[in-house]
Amino acid sequence: MHYPWWYVPNFTAPMLIAGIATIHVFVSLYAVGGGIVLAGEVSHAYKSNDRPMLDYLRTHTLFFILLTVVFGAITGVGIWWTIGLASPLATESLIHIFVFGWAMEYVFFVIEIVSAFVFHYYWGRLDPKTHAAIGWIYAISAYISLVLITGITAFQLDIGNWTPEKGMWTAFFNPQTIPQIMARSGAALLLASLYIYLHAAFKLRNDVHLRSLVENRVSKWGMAGAALVTAGGAWWYVNIPESAKSALAGASALNILTALIFLASAVVFFMLYFGPYRHPGWLNPGFAILYFLLGIAATGTGEFIREGARKPYIVYNYVTGNNVLVSEIPKLQASGYLNGGVWTRAYLKEQYPQAVTKDGNIDYAEMLKLPVAEQVKVGKVLFQYHCNDCHSTNGFSGLDRLTQGWTRDMISTVVTHLNKAHYFMPPWCGNDAEAVLITEFIQSLSEPTPAGMKFSEEESSEKEKTSNLAAREESDR
Ligand code: HEC
Repeated sequence: MHYPWWYVPNFTAPMLIAGIATIHVFVSLYAVGGGIVLAGEVSHAYKSNDRPMLDYLRTHTLFFILLTVVFGAITGVGIWWTIGLASPLATESLIHIFVFGWAMEYVFFVIEIVSAFVFHYYWGRLDPKTHAAIGWIYAISAYISLVLITGITAFQLDIGNWTPEKGMWTAFFNPQTIPQIMARSGAALLLASLYIYLHAAFKLRNDVHLRSLVENRVSKWGMAGAALVTAGGAWWYVNIPESAKSALAGASALNILTALIFLASAVVFFMLYFGPYRHPGWLNPGFAILYFLLGIAATGTGEFIREGARKPYIVYNYVTGNNVLVSEIPKLQASGYLNGGVWTRAYLKEQYPQAVTKDGNIDYAEMLKLPVAEQVKVGKVLFQYHCNDCHSTNGFSGLDRLTQGWTRDMISTVVTHLNKAHYFMPPWCGNDAEAVLITEFIQSLSEPTPAGMKFSEEESSEKEKTSNLAAREESDR
């Protein structure tokens, strides 16, 4: 609302965030879990003076650094880009509330990078104790990053007792933080073990003995991870706010996914136990890929559920999905949504000077006197600032299909009762005139009822169909 709008056609900007964030999570969880497993295994291999194992861990470290530092850093910056553009108000809020948290995050990030490079480039040139200690410095600083970021993203789902007067730590220790840290720690260990299998299955294809050893040792980390994911996930589920629980219960897809993630974790656990733990050595590249995909599916599903359960807010009870502060909604409803945004006001002043008063406010009576085709255009601006965070016009969650066959009254009723139509939509934040304008736009999108159906033909009047089409043609021009 207070920022220019970033328009991503068909897909919506938040879905772009979801895509990049999911890829980032797969890599960053490995960056944390892999650090812990490598530090643990390197320490153990030094103690037992296991040269072949150390040689393998060295090749794995290079793979690890290339993937996590290069790819992890690129996708991490990608997230900042997309959230800054797609949800500027929520991003700004999270930056302000957690200033000190971000500062700590960057310090540990630098320690992480430096220790990762020292660990790799000084391999064999440091005495074993120091080398293993560097590995642990990496592992601990990477783990602290996970804890910090998880506290911040958990805050988005439930702000707990936090109010703007309270400090960062109240926000950080919200009811979601500890369960989510537990689940993500588990996911980090589990994914790390699957990455190692994948790498070892190819790298040690011809060395059954060493491969069995690697598999057997790593399977313990993986099983511990699968158990933590399940326990943390269950604890998380018990603690989510009522609205999130209903969102999960109401959306059958999310319901099935929730069951699926527990199932996938359990399957991975038993596969690890009967596979690499009890019968190491048989893990060929095909099985390693299968394990890996299962682990990715389980983690991805968990993160997807976490995102899906957050609507209608971006930051629970604080910033809504359409990027306004909950506290400013009454003012917007009274004086107009478009009037409340610097950019929307400036845009309308330029396009329709006749509908803006001398002191720069929008004159809604004049807006409603515009030709229908122009009203549709103003309605589109409203759509972009109010709905486009969750809906596209004709792609992902497209309003053309969602309102297929609807009458004008039905559209207008849903617009003015968004949160009543579905509690996971924010309330309508505009005034009555704006409701008319956006209804005009949505009606121009709305697909007619599919042809050939008996009673729908009787009911939908020809007049409405043609006015729909006329408005659409006008707005296309
Ligand atoms: C925070 C996210 C969010 C925002 C913002 C949002 N919606 Fe929705 N809306 C949803 C979800 C989720 C659904 C369920 C359908 C789906 O999943 O595609 C939905 C459903 C709908 C439906 C179909 C309702 C039904 O009963 O079939 C309409 C119409 C609709 N939204 C209109 C709007 C309009 C108009 C706006 C902007 C003024 C808006 N929405 C803003 C999330 C949102």
